[in-house]
Amino acid sequence: MGVVGIIGGSGLTRLKNLQIRNRRVIRTPFGETSGPLTFGQLGGQEVVFIARHGYGHTIPPHRVNYRANIWALHHVGVTHVIAVAAVGGISAAMQSGVICLPDQLIDYTSGRPGTFFEGGESMVVHIDFSQPYCQGVRERLLQAAGSADIAVIDGATYAATQGPRLETIAEIRRIERDGGDVVGMTGAPEAVLAREIGLCYAPLSLVVNPAAGKSAEPITMEAIDAVMHEGMGRVRKVLENAVPLLADCRQCSCTTSVGPEALKHLHNKK
Ligand code: HPA
Repeated sequence: MGVVGIIGGSGLTRLKNLQIRNRRVIRTPFGETSGPLTFGQLGGQEVVFIARHGYGHTIPPHRVNYRANIWALHHVGVTHVIAVAAVGGISAAMQSGVICLPDQLIDYTSGRPGTFFEGGESMVVHIDFSQPYCQGVRERLLQAAGSADIAVIDGATYAATQGPRLETIAEIRRIERDGGDVVGMTGAPEAVLAREIGLCYAPLSLVVNPAAGKSAEPITMEAIDAVMHEGMGRVRKVLENAVPLLADCRQCSCTTSVGPEALKHLHNKK
């Protein structure tokens, strides 16, 4: 049986439809998580929720302790993770309000601790990251959206930028030339760490603004908030439908990206 973890991004610091049982602060070898983990029921199944930017949205993307968050989810028995994020739209199909299920990732971030394995006693590990997201989770998200009659775009390249500022027009042009479809600030190293620790992980992204240069209008927080407010309602429905589907999801090759020795080492790390 899978236990589903949900990482909420901007606009999703709380899951309104989650029946909360308790909250737990988890100590990790990598420092503090963004906040306590929330345990509860969604769609009739156990889920664990964490707000990536903290429950009061106080942690900017470059200060999120991705290692602590991912380690904590794994530590409490989570097997599958849905990572919700607001993104900017770059390619023509990625208009504001669109929900997409990225299938590729380009990492433009810098200076973020990007691995659990720092060498020395922590070992040296090189995971296969050709497919950065779990296909099993992606398929179930697609199925969940379909059964709720919510349109989603299947497949997109997610470009992770450093932030917290938005990009320049030239940076978005470059990302577009590179093949980026949507841009966000939290997709890396979160996905990397999930794979290192053997979690089945996939993003669920809501386009909340046209990326820099993609609209004549300036990008304002008011416009973003309006799209986010409406769109996260649909995201919540997809999540509620996806959780029961994931409970039956078999673990796949994501869980064996590092050998048993390395995993054991991480699990027992103090
Ligand atoms: N750029 C980077 N991250 C974002 C954006 C954007 O335009 N919109 C939401 N997250």
